[in-house]
Amino acid sequence: MLVPVTEMLNKAYEGKYAVGQFNINNLEWTKAILLTAEEQQSPVILGVSEGAAKYMGGFNTVVGMVNGLIQDLGITVPVATHLDHGSYEGGKAAMEAGFSSIMFDGSHYPIEENITKTKEMVELAHSKGISIEAEVGSIGGEEDGVVGTGEIASPEECKLIADLGVDILAAGIGNIHGAYPDDWKGLAFDVLETINDITGSTPLVLHGGTGIAADMIQKAISLGVAKINVNTELQWAFQQATRAYIEAGKDLAGKGFDPRKILAPGFDAIKAGVKEKMEIFGSVGQA
Ligand code: 13P
Repeated sequence: MLVPVTEMLNKAYEGKYAVGQFNINNLEWTKAILLTAEEQQSPVILGVSEGAAKYMGGFNTVVGMVNGLIQDLGITVPVATHLDHGSYEGGKAAMEAGFSSIMFDGSHYPIEENITKTKEMVELAHSKGISIEAEVGSIGGEEDGVVGTGEIASPEECKLIADLGVDILAAGIGNIHGAYPDDWKGLAFDVLETINDITGSTPLVLHGGTGIAADMIQKAISLGVAKINVNTELQWAFQQATRAYIEAGKDLAGKGFDPRKILAPGFDAIKAGVKEKMEIFGSVGQA
């Protein structure tokens, strides 16, 4: 059964570890992440962008696939299916389809509009028992065609949004989606600390988990981060493993396409990548 993220992340916030949000793109990724979470006895959050949901068939398909895998694979750890960077309309549609958690990303609106829309989405989500993440200060980099500039969030604005009753809060602290440039200045820990102090016990979310060193991750966790999103790193792992397999001439060229063979190295690479992150985040054994 899918669960909201509230309980697992309040526990993580208190216990000073983080639960990984791993973004899914297809059946193989989803299966690899769920099996790893079960093996590691870790709670897990499956992140689904609107683009990825559309690619997989739609929100209903995603919910059906994840619920089916939980049942067929005998997954017992807490699993949330969470809309990543949801729009106002997308958030409502994902809730209708049975997502257990959504992010409403109003960070590109002026703060007054972000507050009004987030407030409405919080009320709607909570009336359905669904958890909700909001964002202040857009995360840099490009995701699903949306380009953010990597703002540092205003702690006062974070408090205004946290006070609306959001379950978890994503605040821009210099983090970006995708690879970090060589001249990246790192995370703004002083701002993170102020945001954590000012927003009380709301667990914080770190987007752009790809390429952040383990010591920085641990420092962020010590300052209130309880959910860390990882997408690009898993894409790289899947791509490299698949390419290596094909370049080694093992793709049975001329003998048809057998996804069970061609996608197996990518599947294993996702499993290894997720396990490594769960160890760094400290969520192993916390289910
Ligand atoms: P990366 O693609 O940098 O891992 O970021 C993922 C993310 O933050 C999804 O919301």
